[in-house]
Amino acid sequence: MNTPAVSIRDLSFAYTGQEQVLDHVDLEIQPGERFGIIGPSGAGKSTLLLHLNGILRGRTGKVEIGGIPVGEESLPEIRRRVGLVFQNPDDQLFNPTVEEDVAFGPLNMGLSSEETVGRVEKALGAMNLEGFEKLSSHHLSLGERKRVALATVLAMRPDIVAFDEPFSNLNPAMVEQVIGIVSGLKATVIIVSQSIIPVLAVCDRIAVLNEGRIAAVGPVDVIASTG
Ligand SMILES: Nc1ncnc2c1ncn2[C@@H]1O[C@H](COP(=O)(O)OP(=O)(O)O)[C@@H](O)[C@H]1O
Ligand SMILES: [Mg+2]
Repeated sequence: MNTPAVSIRDLSFAYTGQEQVLDHVDLEIQPGERFGIIGPSGAGKSTLLLHLNGILRGRTGKVEIGGIPVGEESLPEIRRRVGLVFQNPDDQLFNPTVEEDVAFGPLNMGLSSEETVGRVEKALGAMNLEGFEKLSSHHLSLGERKRVALATVLAMRPDIVAFDEPFSNLNPAMVEQVIGIVSGLKATVIIVSQSIIPVLAVCDRIAVLNEGRIAAVGPVDVIASTG
């Protein structure tokens, strides 16, 4: 039997002093899948995503990444395996230049500067950002900043790339561009989104999250026809 890329068992979560946001969530995602999580605003999608690399941890239940339980001791390994691409690229970019932003993760993982330089070059190349190395991300367009943010994640070479609302605030041409980029990734891909159409275009399977519960999960064509 294959070890799932992500296994979530009976996960419930509430922010301190708040009502339950995730309610007994069970989900399994296989290696290489492109998996979409859709649902209305406030359903708990972003909260669920933050559990994949241990930024948040549920009071009950279990999250495993490639068979490794997410916990205090496993966090460095979990964060090597799971790259989160935040909804707002400005939450991900904080260094003076693009190349420093992209080098940050690999250097933080303890990689040599030689290895890091190679990874920065590859990641920027994959995002069509050659020539952007010395620029500050402040001076780039939203679409460019989104590509830099993804490059910072790709440079870590994660097994799983998880996107929070990658299609928000993009014009149709940019949505097409993101669809192309996501479709070209070799990693397991998880996309959380309120925009259903691009998710249908990219994903193999989809879960519908509603009020913190998984309301449905299945192949794209099945979910689309019961929509
Ligand atoms: N940091 C936080 N502190 C308290 N409540 C939060 C926090 N982040 C989100 N929430 C609440 O949790 C619920 C789910 O939010 P979220 O996971 O952001 O949903 P979605 O991404 O599906 O829009 C909402 O009611 C939201 O107000
Ligand atoms: Mg959200």
